[in-house]
Amino acid sequence: MDSIGSSGLRQGEEALSCPEEGLPGPSDSSELVQECLQQFKVTRAQLQQIQASLLGSMEQALRGQASPAPAVRMLPTYVGSTPHGTEQGDFVVLELGATGASLRVLWVTLTGIEGHRVEPRSQEFVIPQEVMLGAGQQLFDFAAHCLSEFLDAQPVNKQGLQLGFSFSFPCHQTGLDRSTLISWTKGFRCSGVEGQDVVQLLRDAIRRQGAYNIDVVAVVNDTVGTMMGCEPGVRPCEVGLVVDTGTNACYMEEARHVAVLDEDRGRVCVSVEWGSFSDDGALGPVLTTFDHTLDHESLNPGAQRFEKMIGGLYLGELVRLVLAHLAQCGVLFGGCTSPALLSQGSILLEHVAEMEDPSAGAARVHAVLQDLGLSPRASDVELVQHVCAAVCTRAAQLCAAALAAVLSCLQHSREQQTLQVAVATGGRVCERHPRFCSILQGTVMLLAPECDVSFIPSADGGGRGVAMVTAVAARLAAHRRLLEETLAPFRLNHDQLAAVQAQMRKAMAKGLRGEASSLRMLPTFVRATPDGSERGDFLALDLGGTNFRVLLVRVTTGVQITSQIYSIPESVAQGSGQQLFDHIVDCIVDFQQKQGLSGQSLPLGFTFSFPCRQLGLDQGILLNWTKGFNASDCEGRDVVSLLREAITRRQAVELNVVAIVNDTVGTMMSCGYEDPRCEIGLIVGTGTNACYMEELRNVAGVPGDSGRMCINMEWGAFGDDGSLAMLSTRFDASVDQASINPGKQRFEKMISGMYLGEIVRHILLYLTSLGVLFRGQQTQRLQTRDIFKTKFLSEIESDSLALRQVRAILEDLGLPLTSDDALMVLEVCQAVSQRAAQLCGAGVAAVVEKIRENRGVEELAVSVGVDGTLYKLHPHFSSLVAATVRELAPHCVVTFLQSEDGSGKGAALVTAVACRLAQLTRV
Ligand code: G6P
Ligand code: BGC
Ligand code: BGC
Repeated sequence: MDSIGSSGLRQGEEALSCPEEGLPGPSDSSELVQECLQQFKVTRAQLQQIQASLLGSMEQALRGQASPAPAVRMLPTYVGSTPHGTEQGDFVVLELGATGASLRVLWVTLTGIEGHRVEPRSQEFVIPQEVMLGAGQQLFDFAAHCLSEFLDAQPVNKQGLQLGFSFSFPCHQTGLDRSTLISWTKGFRCSGVEGQDVVQLLRDAIRRQGAYNIDVVAVVNDTVGTMMGCEPGVRPCEVGLVVDTGTNACYMEEARHVAVLDEDRGRVCVSVEWGSFSDDGALGPVLTTFDHTLDHESLNPGAQRFEKMIGGLYLGELVRLVLAHLAQCGVLFGGCTSPALLSQGSILLEHVAEMEDPSAGAARVHAVLQDLGLSPRASDVELVQHVCAAVCTRAAQLCAAALAAVLSCLQHSREQQTLQVAVATGGRVCERHPRFCSILQGTVMLLAPECDVSFIPSADGGGRGVAMVTAVAARLAAHRRLLEETLAPFRLNHDQLAAVQAQMRKAMAKGLRGEASSLRMLPTFVRATPDGSERGDFLALDLGGTNFRVLLVRVTTGVQITSQIYSIPESVAQGSGQQLFDHIVDCIVDFQQKQGLSGQSLPLGFTFSFPCRQLGLDQGILLNWTKGFNASDCEGRDVVSLLREAITRRQAVELNVVAIVNDTVGTMMSCGYEDPRCEIGLIVGTGTNACYMEELRNVAGVPGDSGRMCINMEWGAFGDDGSLAMLSTRFDASVDQASINPGKQRFEKMISGMYLGEIVRHILLYLTSLGVLFRGQQTQRLQTRDIFKTKFLSEIESDSLALRQVRAILEDLGLPLTSDDALMVLEVCQAVSQRAAQLCGAGVAAVVEKIRENRGVEELAVSVGVDGTLYKLHPHFSSLVAATVRELAPHCVVTFLQSEDGSGKGAALVTAVACRLAQLTRV
């Protein structure tokens, strides 16, 4: 298009050209005018059709389905969060493409204090026409030149400058600072830029220029700058609308709805690029002959058809085409035209805005027309005003239909009945054209009645918002570095895991030989898994996990279980031993009464999930309490005697305690009843531990050399001799120090459910203190011990959760947080639970390799019976354990069987086996 200088109009030195023949009569004229203006009328039904068709195109593009006609593009921008209000720093912003033929450079200072703004300093440079249509390198050199000219005049520290690049053309972004131009729009057509990364082109030009060392941190579309510049208000500002030379909108979409992103968490800002919308079915009926002419004569015929009905670059041109047509028909200006009226680009947006403004008065319209070399009559002035109004009204209505489509899309994606949202508006058409805005807003209300929208004009163009994105990009990069540094010690590599496995093997061997070792390797006196011939009714107790249970187990050809859960209050678990065992007996009595078993003395198996040195099946000396238990006067005593003493105190019952069984052993027995290859028991719940069938010849301290015995490893204490110090982080140390058994159960404290949440909490506290999380604000809630239960970790890490739900879980815990925070919390949880699963896997690998070596086989197939809330409820724990075992013990095929009935069943089976053997010896 012709450039016509800053005054906009050629002075009327050119001659008028007038018709030689007669003009139409008054009735013909009014018909001609009506016919012409009628073309610009759009019905509500047509707007609704455009809205629906645009919405369809948007959703299709989000799903990544190619559409036959060029439709909207839905380009992800890599802006993942709206501003915090805490962004701060000085930023250089370069704006190219938003306002036609000018380029703007800004110096933006963000104070980080809400409501406290420092006016940006800015300078505008007119881009010469030959640069807009010349070689790409020339354009970017021009930009770099403007940058240094601007910076030269700034009284600021020019070291380490960070620049945000506002580049308002359709681009494929592949990162916050990588963006490939798809095609020029508006009045630009520089060669060699389409298909190139515009950030790189700018960096190269800055380097060529050589005057400044500037880091281009982020590239954004003007719509994104507009949205991000919006002051955080009562409702989130999640849509940015620009109507300037061109038009477009962006909005915050759920990342999982954007097929091209391999990301299912969080949100991302999507630039709709609705300017290219061109559905024939929907747009066809509203296109006028003037639209066709305009398109034909434009730089990019056939492209940006929708934009050409709305964008400021085109509104003046449409008005010009209509006025020229009406003049040529003899309806306007006495049928006279002027060379200016017949020249492309002679009427600009500001002229249209001025002429349309009712308060401007006839004199202003007159003056504009005269500047065009025309001699308007009084009636011409009114008609010209009508034409301007018709063109602008249609533009505002079409823009409203498009915005309504975006709001519907947002509403669908949020799955909300009603949507409350703020739309940031920017661009000269919005800013300087109050009628445009009011029609736009009224029409949006009509077309999207379910959306409660407030419109917030952007205060200082998109510049502030671009600086925000740049600040966010710089902050995110810094935060990510800190997060990565913090989590690095949790990310164990193959060598570290192999070392854990090797250390475990060493500690096992020492423990078995009776030498000092953090692994006690306790003989359990269980010598065989069940063979199916066991029969009878048994009582079982199950103490030490999340629940205390009393069970009645009927073993016939199968196993039938009736059980009841009783609570053990913390005051009892940490009170006196006598109180604890009295409570247990009370629960048994209650159970017997309820089951009609009073007076019967059934054989009883006692699952007691703490380290005990067993002297026989029915004798176990508690070595030390673990997990949340700490009842006095029990350590060093035989647990069966403690139970028997409580029974005696209670007098009313008679019980026949036959076996005391660790939960790992109970689990192995219970799974062994189904699968004879099950020779390992594993618990990953409140605590963690494993047992396995060892060759008796390897077990010091138990007479006999043939056969096998189940060994309770008590691996929770692995590392208590300091051998895990290399892996222990500051967070592990904090958790250990705050526990009731500092220095003890160090392996357990890195793995089991009772501690993982606490590790996460300590990491979150640390990240908050670094300002990486929760905007650096420590909350009382986060200081509260044990607010993170294992079940939260399992819930948060579930694949099916959107980040919104992760946030809801954390908000339920009383932690107010942003999506960025939620994502980081999730990553912390993942790092902690992954390390736990891998350490557990390294332990299992050590055990299976030991069994393989015992048997002297090349390949071992073995099953592990597993129980525990963390293992069972966590979405990835079990597969990570299995993967680690495969990696560290490649010659073992290990099957994991989840125990369904708890270890109480196993305790009953141990009891049953013992009774069967006792009967045999009696016989
Ligand atoms: C089993 C047992 C409990 C055991 C528990 C571990 O099913 O019956 O005695 O301690 O699992 O799981 P938890 O997550 O409850 O600690
Ligand atoms: C461009 C968009 C831009 C809009 C408003 C369009 O021509 O394609 O990227 O946002 O103009 O400036
Ligand atoms: C105990 C073990 C038990 C494990 C799982 C540990 O704290 O010391 O005996 O098997 O927890 O419940």
